[in-house]
Amino acid sequence: MSPPPPHCSALLLRIAPLLLALLVVSSAGPAASRLTADYYAKSCPRFQQIVQDTVTGKQISTPTTAAATLRVFFHDCFASGCDGSILLSAAPLSPPPERDADINLSLPGDAFDLVVRAKTALELACPGTVSCSDILVVATRDLVTMLGGPYYDVFLGRRDTRISRASLVAGLLPRPNMTMSELLSLFAARGFSAQEMVALAGAHTVGFSHCKEFSSGIYGYSKSSSFDPTYNPRFAQGLQKACASYGQDPTLSVFNDVMTPNKFDNMYYQNLPKGLGLLASDRGLYGDPRTRPFVEMYARDQDRFFKDFARAMQKLSLYGVQTGRRGEIRRRCDAVN
Ligand code: HEM
Repeated sequence: MSPPPPHCSALLLRIAPLLLALLVVSSAGPAASRLTADYYAKSCPRFQQIVQDTVTGKQISTPTTAAATLRVFFHDCFASGCDGSILLSAAPLSPPPERDADINLSLPGDAFDLVVRAKTALELACPGTVSCSDILVVATRDLVTMLGGPYYDVFLGRRDTRISRASLVAGLLPRPNMTMSELLSLFAARGFSAQEMVALAGAHTVGFSHCKEFSSGIYGYSKSSSFDPTYNPRFAQGLQKACASYGQDPTLSVFNDVMTPNKFDNMYYQNLPKGLGLLASDRGLYGDPRTRPFVEMYARDQDRFFKDFARAMQKLSLYGVQTGRRGEIRRRCDAVN
């Protein structure tokens, strides 16, 4: 077959992202297919700008916001769909919300503060129009881009849930001490392949983890070694020092990517073969033959990582969304109307 004429390949290049986007939306179920890229174009034309301004201001004043928000987005979408359930605070006479589940207690307040700020600005510009779940999706995308990661289109029109239960979260979110088979099935249950799981885990190129999340790998690991031998020994010794007093000070924490902690890049994957993965689940990605080839590929090829991460984030942002008559547009993000 002869190659298409130049004007035709230029056109193909231009529409490729659109085709890809259509593919992602159509593979995500009927509710997700009702979302559109320009959902607020008429009802709140300044939506994207308002979120971006809020995000920029917050990230400059508090640089931990980006990783915090990325994790909150993950916990919202992965547990029960991207429906803003994670944003609800405890309310009198209601059972404890997702946010109060054990695994969510370490979610940093700055991410919630960011969403509240954006919502306040949006309520002034276009009252009762923009959902909190859409704000979280767009803010996360803008922050990933701000840290040097890929830009990707997101689809809008999610509605916010009225239900959020701490008791439903247990077992739905990954924990670092899960086996690779458990992690793979958790992701597979939501339609994510091993490759997509590895791409999403690249989010650990930013942010930090508290010592208790990896302490079992650095203290009293076995009879022959105090630390897990999949660690680089010098790194493990450094971690032992950094976390020495975590019993008295549970806030002690370490960067997920020790080499370039504040940059969204593929260094996370380059670290793994060197034993510089912080969590057992990070090092496990390199240790398991089902995931290792993808770690190696992303370590070699940052463009490929960015492309796959962007696509997997688009897919995750469509998971379990509510549209139409389901859910509501919350007036404030931490409480149902
Ligand atoms: C593969 C399974 C995963 C496990 C077991 C896992 C586990 C964890 C743990 C234990 C922490 C530390 C929390 C703390 O101490 O405060 C953490 C941090 C983080 N996780 Fe994951 N995670 C996984 C996947 C993901 C995914 C898919 C994303 C996003 C798409 C993500 C984004 C983050 C971010 C950005 C942080 C840093 C948060 C901050 O600095 O405030 N994680 N993760």
